Amino acid sequence: MAYKTNRDAKGEAMRVAFDQRFLDELSARSDIVDVVGGYVTLAQRGSEYWGCCPFHSERTPSFHVRPDQQMYYCFGCKKGGGVVNFVMEIENLSYPDAIRFLAKRANIPVPEETRDDGSARLRSRLLALNRDAARFYYDQLHSPKGEAVMEYMRSRKITRRNATNFGLGAAGDEWDGLMTAMLQKGYTQAELIAAGLAVKGKNGGAYDKFRKRLIFPIIDVRGDVLGFGGRIVDKDDQGAKYMNTPETVVYSKRRVLYGLNLAKKSKRGGILLVEGNIDVVMLHQAGFDNACASMGTALTQEQLHLLSRYTKDLVLCYDNDDAGKVATQKALALLNDTDFNVRVLELPKRLVDGQYVKQDADDFIKYQGKDAFENLLSGSESGMDFRMAQLRSKFDLSNDRGRIEYAAAAAELLADVANAVEREVYTVRAAEAAGITPDALKLEVRRAFSRKARKDRREQERRDLRPAAAAQPKERSMRYENTRSALAEEGVLRLLTLDDALFGAAPPLREEEFSSPLLGRFFTALWLQRENGGAIRLSALDGAFTSDELGHLAGILQKPESTDHASREKALRDYVRIIKEERTKRLAASEDPLAAAYKKYTKSPDGDGGTTNGD
Ligand code: UTP
Ligand code: MN
Repeated sequence: MAYKTNRDAKGEAMRVAFDQRFLDELSARSDIVDVVGGYVTLAQRGSEYWGCCPFHSERTPSFHVRPDQQMYYCFGCKKGGGVVNFVMEIENLSYPDAIRFLAKRANIPVPEETRDDGSARLRSRLLALNRDAARFYYDQLHSPKGEAVMEYMRSRKITRRNATNFGLGAAGDEWDGLMTAMLQKGYTQAELIAAGLAVKGKNGGAYDKFRKRLIFPIIDVRGDVLGFGGRIVDKDDQGAKYMNTPETVVYSKRRVLYGLNLAKKSKRGGILLVEGNIDVVMLHQAGFDNACASMGTALTQEQLHLLSRYTKDLVLCYDNDDAGKVATQKALALLNDTDFNVRVLELPKRLVDGQYVKQDADDFIKYQGKDAFENLLSGSESGMDFRMAQLRSKFDLSNDRGRIEYAAAAAELLADVANAVEREVYTVRAAEAAGITPDALKLEVRRAFSRKARKDRREQERRDLRPAAAAQPKERSMRYENTRSALAEEGVLRLLTLDDALFGAAPPLREEEFSSPLLGRFFTALWLQRENGGAIRLSALDGAFTSDELGHLAGILQKPESTDHASREKALRDYVRIIKEERTKRLAASEDPLAAAYKKYTKSPDGDGGTTNGD
C-alpha cells in the first residue's frame, strides 16, 4: 500500500490509499499525451508535444508535454506535473477522484480503498440522498400535494412528457415534507443540511429549503444529481424567484450547466447556451435539444472545459436586455482565445401595447414559434459581428469625430483577432460601416497589432530580466531561504531525472542537507522511485505533492542542463559541493549568535541577503 497525502480543493489534508500495483497499472495505461490530447490540440515537435495552455488564455503555445518523463509544463502560467495532476487541475477533482476518473477512462476497476477521511463516503452519501430527494419531488408532483406546481407547469406549457424527461418535481407547501421522508430512509439531518436540502433553524432543528416550488434537478454529465433549482409558483410568494442548492461537497455552480446531461446527446451540432432553466426545458420541448443554461450566472472557464469535451460550436442566446448583453460580452471575451466557434443569437424585443419588452428564448418560442427560432438560429451572427455591432452603436457615425473615434476603437478590437483572414474580413466591414477606406483602417489595425505585440514582448523581457525573482517559486510557502544552495539543489534533481547513471548506489545527499525542505522532499521521493527499481517519473509523484509544488518541480526540470555525460558529472560534483558548503555556513550561523546577527544585517556573498524578505 502506498499512502499519499494530498490536499483537496479546500486545502484540507487527507489521506487516501490505493494499491501500488493498481497505481502502476493505471499509470502505464494513462499515457499523458493521450490524456492531455483529449483537452488540448497538441502538435509534435521532436520528442515533445506543444499546444495552447488550457489553464490560461494564450495565442502562441507555451504549454508542452514530454512523453519521456510523462509530464506537462506551461512556461506561461507555470503549471505543470504528471497525468493525475493534470486531471486534478483540468477537471477540478481531488486526488482520489482524479484516480477514479483515470481508472474509468482506462477501464480498470478501482480496488477497495482502505482508508480515507470520509470525504469520499460523504460524497457518495450526498449523491444518494440527492437521487432519493429527486425521486421524492417527482412523486410529489404527481400527487395531490403537487397540484399547485402541476397547475403552474401547465400554465408554462411544459408537457408531462418533457417534465419527466427533465425529472421535474414539486416541493409541497410544508416545512418538513422532504426531511421527514429522507430521515425515514435513513439519512441524517446533518446529511440533509450538507446537501443543502435542509436549512438549520434557530432552536437546533431544521426545515426544508425548498417549499412550494417547481423543482429542477441539476444533473451532471455522468447522470448524478448534484443539486436543485426551485422556482416559485405562486405570484404572491415573497421569496426569490429561483432558489438553488448552495455550494456543497457535490455541487459547485461554476462547474455545472443545467441540461448538459441531455444536450450532450443531441444530434444537432453544437451547444446552445441560454440563461434560464425554463428556457432549457422549453427549447428541448421545441426540438432544440442541444440547449443548456448557466443558470443566470456568468459563463466560467470550468464550464468551457466541460463543453469542450462535446463540441467546438457554441451559440449564445442570452436575454435581450442590458444584463443579457453584458453577459454576452463577458462570455465572448472569455471565449476569445479559445478554439470554440461562437455565434450569437440575438432575440428581437417584442412589441406589447406600443412598447418593446425583453424576451428570452422561452418567450420567443411561445409567441413566435419554433420555426421562427430555427430561422434566427441559422442566421445567427458570429461573435465578432456581435461585438462590432455593439461597438458601432456606441459612436455617432454621422460626423467625422465619431467616425475617427470608432475607427480607433475598432482597430483595437480587430487587433485581437488571431486569425489573419478573419481580421481582414472584419476590418473591411468595419471600414464600410464607418465610411472610411479599408486601407486606412487596415493601417490602424496593423499599428494596434504591433503595439500589442511590443507590449507582450516587453512584459516577457521584464520577466526574463529578473532572474533572481524568477528563481523564486511564486508560492510563499515554497520560497527559497538560500538561493545559491537551492539552485544547486534544483540541479541535482534535474540530473537525477535526466541521467540517473550519474548517481551511485547511495544518495549523494541527505534530505536534511537541502536548504529547501520542498526540494529535499522531492529528492527523497525521486530517490525512492529509483531504489524501487522503477524509472524515475514525475507522474508517480502526483498525489504526494500539491499542484503548486508539482508545477514548481516541472519548471525546475525545464531549465537547461549540460548535455554530455562528462560535463554532467562535473556539474553534479559542483552542485553537491555548493549544497554542503552552504549547509556548513548555515549550521555555523545558527550556532554562533554573532554570525547569525552578521548574516541577518548584511548581504551574503551570493547577493541573496541571507534572509528572505518575501517582497
Ligand atoms: P431570469 O430572471 O431571466 O428568469 O433568470 P427566467 O429564466 O426567465 O425564469 P422564468 O421564465 O421567469 O421562470 C435566469 C436564470 O437565472 C437564475 C435561474 O436559473 C433562472 O432560470 N436565477 C434567476 C436565480 O438563480 N435566482 C433568481 O432569483 C433569479
Ligand atoms: Mn423566462
